[in-house]
Amino acid sequence: MSTIAEVAKGRLGGRSVRRIVYSEDDIATRVSELAEEITGHYAADDHLLVLGLLKGSFIFMSDLVRRVQRPLQLDFLVASSYGSGTVSSGDLRLLYDPGASLRGRSVVIVEDIIDSGHTLQRLIPLLREREPRSLDVCTLLHKRIAPLDPDARWVGFDAPPEFLVGYGLDHAEDFRHLPFIASL
Ligand code: IMP
Ligand code: MG
Repeated sequence: MSTIAEVAKGRLGGRSVRRIVYSEDDIATRVSELAEEITGHYAADDHLLVLGLLKGSFIFMSDLVRRVQRPLQLDFLVASSYGSGTVSSGDLRLLYDPGASLRGRSVVIVEDIIDSGHTLQRLIPLLREREPRSLDVCTLLHKRIAPLDPDARWVGFDAPPEFLVGYGLDHAEDFRHLPFIASL
């Protein structure tokens, strides 16, 4: 198990973790609640498609879908990321696009964190063109500082305006594996 001390000693990316913002328990509790809400929102015969935005959402996605009590299919999207910086650049490239057709389906986009809102602001219209029956966003974290507010139906936590890592979130590809969420 990674502890903050171990990670900090590793000098990963030249940065060290400052404090735990959401513990493993905090996250598990909230993810179960979100899954329950999602379960309640859809009917058993909804043709549910859960689309995770890689790489940041991979742990959240896997914990979440295991608790959603509805038949569903899942796929991933890869959009361009920050690179190694900590500031949103605002341009979006789709590097992997799902094979699954969205037409007539109930689609849930799973995101790790909404920061500037650029990613979803650009992604949502692009996916709407594919005529899903519904398109909703479930994000684990929302910094609530987005000048653009891509309306997320499900939000795990209102996050502090700090750079967060762990539970899928990275800084220059480091720290994704931490089971908790910490600030740098
Ligand atoms: P946005 O387009 O600015 O809303 O940012 C969305 C993406 O930026 C997220 O999916 C994350 O990959 C990344 N991001 C934003 N804030 C953070 C953070 O605090 N830590 C790690 N990644 C972040
Ligand atoms: Mg991301």
